[in-house]
Amino acid sequence: MPKTVVKASVLEHTLIGPQVRRLTFAAPILAQQALPGQFVHVKVTESIVPLLRRPISIADVNPDNGTLTLIYRIVGQGTSLLAEVKPGGQLDIMGPLGNGFSLETERPLLVGGGIGLAPMVYLAKSLCPRPITIIMGGRNKEEMYWQEIFQSLCRSIHITTDDGSLGRQGFTVDALSDMLSADTFDIVYACGPQPMLEGVARLATAKNIRCQVSLEDHMACGVGACLSCTCAATDGKRRKVCADGPVFWAEEVFS
Ligand code: FES
Repeated sequence: MPKTVVKASVLEHTLIGPQVRRLTFAAPILAQQALPGQFVHVKVTESIVPLLRRPISIADVNPDNGTLTLIYRIVGQGTSLLAEVKPGGQLDIMGPLGNGFSLETERPLLVGGGIGLAPMVYLAKSLCPRPITIIMGGRNKEEMYWQEIFQSLCRSIHITTDDGSLGRQGFTVDALSDMLSADTFDIVYACGPQPMLEGVARLATAKNIRCQVSLEDHMACGVGACLSCTCAATDGKRRKVCADGPVFWAEEVFS
């Protein structure tokens, strides 16, 4: 399926946490199409350095004013250059790409670790007004700027930090284990580091609860053509994270 490529004007670009930026740009066509869990492939057009596009998950969409918002961590040359783009600057955006989350739920539980919380924002917004519970994990309280973002979207927020500086000390899967024993959910959505996803999938499967995971992988083309992003599936075949995912049912990719 042909993807839309647009030149987008940056409207806002602010630092919201340690090495984490929120970027809002105007892209009315993409704002009409984007689903929670999908991503865009971003190219900095003003750079003199030739760079591949960078895949970044969609954190929010406003179809009314035609904007998309991304929340990303500055981790390398591509995102460092992106971080320098000022409001008024132009970006080359391909998208929306990939498959998003299923929204068939009445009692959703969201689990996000680190920057993996970014796609959960648009997911939570899309699930409202259903009662949403979220478990958010990070290294320390400085990384928990997410609390403010999810406050108006979720009925119940649970926080874990590695150092115990905010919420419960430990990992999201520790909190998840307790929550699945104490409450009833009909689906678990997860995005974050691979070990976290495997732990979430294992716990949800043990409780017979549907689970969707959003995988991260290195990508080049972003549209299923180069095979640089494949992962092993439980049927013995391989899946392209960019085109078959990034959202998968847990049993498809974790045994
Ligand atoms: Fe090329 Fe996925 S990035 S096939």
